[in-house]
Amino acid sequence: MRVTKVRDYAELSRRAAAFIAGRICAEPCGAFGFATGSTPEGAYAELVRMHRCGAVDFGGIHTFNLDEYCGIPGDHPQSYRHFMMDRLFGHVNLKPGNVEIPDGMAADLDGECRRYEGRIRELGGISLQLLGIGRNGHIGFNEPGDVFSGDTAVFRLTESTVAANSRHFAPGEAIPPTAISMGIRTIMGARSILLIASGPEKRGVLDAMINGPIDPRLPASILQAHRDVSVIYCD
Ligand code: PGA
Repeated sequence: MRVTKVRDYAELSRRAAAFIAGRICAEPCGAFGFATGSTPEGAYAELVRMHRCGAVDFGGIHTFNLDEYCGIPGDHPQSYRHFMMDRLFGHVNLKPGNVEIPDGMAADLDGECRRYEGRIRELGGISLQLLGIGRNGHIGFNEPGDVFSGDTAVFRLTESTVAANSRHFAPGEAIPPTAISMGIRTIMGARSILLIASGPEKRGVLDAMINGPIDPRLPASILQAHRDVSVIYCD
């Protein structure tokens, strides 16, 4: 694991965007995994800026997102599809047909999970997966538990995740209790992983992820077993 501490959020965002852009330039027809949350917002703004000045071309890549809430449509302002369109995908030359995000409104959610896994395989696997990390050590919606999860599946959000994510929803608006998420096996299948984290509230969980035992009670600790993980963080 290559761990880099940077000065502040602006530098984190620039470094993460440059990392992703470099990989896209190296694999212009690759499949790239993106993440939602507050942490990648600055990197996405930087990627949009880089795209506008011709420094990165999204025209040949496919994208996969880590997760999506169940039961809210893609045009709902809190859906992860909406987030990605608003922050990145809607501002770059990505082909709409090349965007894969789990469909949380699918009538057959388990079938949708299988379709998603199949699509990742069809496209030759994910070249680079971007990750954030939850304060409880979750990646995607892989919450602390007794075992590491497998493939893309429907997951129940823990109370702490519901509490953390409620800030994005209107007061009184119900947060979906379940989401489709890539599983730990899916994430570990990516050829490279870039995890970014910002703020003193992530310091403890990052330390445990990097230096603690590999333990499903801290799902991100599994990344110690991946051979190409980069971590960029700031306090
Ligand atoms: P955040 O979320 O970037 O909003 O802190 C990260 C996560 O929960 O994975």
